[in-house]
Amino acid sequence: MAQIICIIGNKGGTGKTTLSHLLAHGLGLFGKYTVAVLTDIERQPLSKAGRNYLPFDARQSDNLERVVQKLRAVEQWYGVIDGGGNRPQMDTTLAGLADLVLLPFRDSHEDVRTLIQDLERFPQAYALPSQWPSNAWQLQAAMRTVENMLGRYRDRLLEPVYVQSATKLLLQHQLPAQLPAALNNTARMLALQVMELLAIPLPEDRWIPVPKQSADGAQRCKLTDQEQAA
Ligand SMILES: Nc1ncnc2c1ncn2[C@@H]1O[C@H](COP(=O)(O)OP(=O)(O)O)[C@@H](O)[C@H]1O
Ligand SMILES: [Mg+2]
Repeated sequence: MAQIICIIGNKGGTGKTTLSHLLAHGLGLFGKYTVAVLTDIERQPLSKAGRNYLPFDARQSDNLERVVQKLRAVEQWYGVIDGGGNRPQMDTTLAGLADLVLLPFRDSHEDVRTLIQDLERFPQAYALPSQWPSNAWQLQAAMRTVENMLGRYRDRLLEPVYVQSATKLLLQHQLPAQLPAALNNTARMLALQVMELLAIPLPEDRWIPVPKQSADGAQRCKLTDQEQAA
């Protein structure tokens, strides 16, 4: 049976669509077969060309049922479902069929308030800091907000996905021929967190993340030989 990861939450703009493609891309970089499922009626489907995962249009509910059934019937696949936001009923449906539920939120009190409601509604879900500031001052303030407002959910907080303008490239209809190495690293870091939560054996020494703080506070990771050569 495939693993189904749903990225949901009742707030728009938190990064659900971006993160669903980032995760699918990251899983693809680790050689996993992945479908990125679109359910957001406000978004247009993306082209498969050049992607290492399969974008699937499930804006029609029949298609969602069909893709979930197909995923349930195959081994070793991953389905990443983009919830779309502002649809509590849809979120409940998606959370019910997911092996892992991710709730992205930004560094804002409003996002955190909505997140807390969603964390209460979905006790199995994890909170994923999204569009996180990498500037040292802003990062400190963001961490304070998290500590003050989300302290009691500490065990359900994942490592942040930082602000990175290149994430937009993944949402282009047609993917550019080459993606920046830093974007690939962000995608891999996210995929590794997800694999760990799903208790999937982590890839061996093909790529070893070496998180370390850079001058601006952002995480940096070791590049593959291929990327270093590029
Ligand atoms: N890590 C990131 N770094 C920079 N911009 C981001 C990041 N994640 C999302 N964004 C931007 O934030 C906006 C909202 O993201 P989106 O994925 O569409 O959110 P949602 O699907 O939850 O509404 C988009 O303009 C997107 O490009
Ligand atoms: Mg969206």
